[in-house]
Amino acid sequence: MKIKNICCIGAGYVGGPTMSIIAHKNPNIKVNVVDMNADKISAWNSKDLDNLPVYEPGLSKVVKEARGRNLFFSNDINKYIDQADMIFISVNTPTKTSGEGMGYAADLKYIEACAKQIAEVSKTDKIIVEKSTVPVRTSEKIRQILKLNNSHVDFQILSNPEFLAEGTAMRDLEIPDRVLIGGDKTPDGQKAIESLVKIYTSWVPRKNILTTNLWSSELSKLTANAFLAQRISSINSLSELCEETGADIEEVSKAIGMDSRIGSSFLKSSVGFGGSCFQKDILNLVYIARTLGLEKVADYWEQILIINEHQRNRFSSKIIDFIKKENLEPEVLMLGWAFKKNTNDSRESASIYVTNNLINNSIKVDIYDPKVKEYQVNFDLSSLNPDYDASLVNYIDNPFINISSYNTVVITTEWDEFKDFDWKTVYNNIKKPAYIFDGRNILKSEIIKKIGFNYLGLGRN
Ligand code: NAD
Ligand code: UGA
Repeated sequence: MKIKNICCIGAGYVGGPTMSIIAHKNPNIKVNVVDMNADKISAWNSKDLDNLPVYEPGLSKVVKEARGRNLFFSNDINKYIDQADMIFISVNTPTKTSGEGMGYAADLKYIEACAKQIAEVSKTDKIIVEKSTVPVRTSEKIRQILKLNNSHVDFQILSNPEFLAEGTAMRDLEIPDRVLIGGDKTPDGQKAIESLVKIYTSWVPRKNILTTNLWSSELSKLTANAFLAQRISSINSLSELCEETGADIEEVSKAIGMDSRIGSSFLKSSVGFGGSCFQKDILNLVYIARTLGLEKVADYWEQILIINEHQRNRFSSKIIDFIKKENLEPEVLMLGWAFKKNTNDSRESASIYVTNNLINNSIKVDIYDPKVKEYQVNFDLSSLNPDYDASLVNYIDNPFINISSYNTVVITTEWDEFKDFDWKTVYNNIKKPAYIFDGRNILKSEIIKKIGFNYLGLGRN
């Protein structure tokens, strides 16, 4: 089937950027991105390209080029489902907060709602593409819902998980390591796969497009995230060992990463990984393994999350203990709120947990982030602890305001501007003794110490 009209349900961090690129690379295909969140859609349609709902370097340029030509954002979900030949489901799949599997399993209610709505509205044959990250065999569930609610239309189901990372989404989409497409082994299934392959080959070399069965595709996405997170927890666990032995985690990371069998990516020690996906996808993997009676497998993967939480708490305790031991002013300047640099996303950011630990110890936290807004900081803290003491938290637009009142700076996000600060001037203005807790190991410890700061990184002495 030649695809002329695409609908994507979900205009979030995945739906927005992926559809912008598909529209940009395929000017002859009409791409309608729909969402039930009216505010989000009006922000995607906003003239002010600096205020799109998703901040990603390079995104606004692509939106500017394609929007209004063949890229559209709308709340009229039924209309665009009806018109489409191909529908991407790109809605959120958070961890369940109630019912069976609570705290572990992925909540598929948004996926199921989409499947039901598609079935109810569709009058012509359609290819349904699972873009969201889902438990293995979810496509079977979608198929059942579609069949049960509409027996007149043929639906082919594909799995096409997204591997983009926030902050580098546009580059990841332009030059993906691979595009993965799973589908049925039937002739119709294979035709559906080819329709989607054709869209991607507008810019991705065919050899980088991998086609598999549905279940392999679904499971590969979950396990790719689990492997990436596993490397971070491995290096973070070693950072503690370094502190006890005098080894330096940056040196160890470099030494092991130069082994071509290991590779150097994802070996940066940090205050812990955040983001909306690693934790929820591993919890989901753990749940699937436990449901299948694979206790040892479940325990193995769960350990990644235990180390991540340990690392966040360990970092918080270092700050709290120093403030108490050195009798410092119980007030810190926190640099960074986003879960990584170059994004406005703060979901599951380590900074939320560290701040909560600090304020629980009556330490005042002044927070600065170049892209995350004040309401989001308040939302994040109250979601973790509805009774948090807001009087201890202050959002600031300029990190140097009141710099002379702090003894302590805490770095929680690796924004380039923090690395590039004139730390000598900061030192001259900040209250003494001056401490830096570098939760990202972004500063050159020798230089910072030479300026006069007391420097504490992770896994460095
Ligand atoms: P998001 O929360 O940013 O966006 C999801 C959007 O779906 C929301 O705007 C929500 O309003 C909308 N939505 C939910 N149900 C709907 C419905 N029935 N009808 C219309 N709109 C509906 O989520 P995201 O970060 O884009 O993630 C989406 C999926 O992609 C998740 O499964 C996630 O695991 C996966 N994923 C995310 C990333 C990432 O970097 N964020 C990367 C790869 C994969
Ligand atoms: C991750 C994966 O990298 C993507 O391939 C995947 O598509 C996505 O999850 C998803 O499914 O949502 P993302 O979470 O956006 O992407 O960002 P990452 O670059 O993976 O970083 C995740 C967290 O790990 C961040 O907090 C980051 O600071 C931290 N990290 C990363 C480290 O602490 N050390 C590292 O060496 C690398």
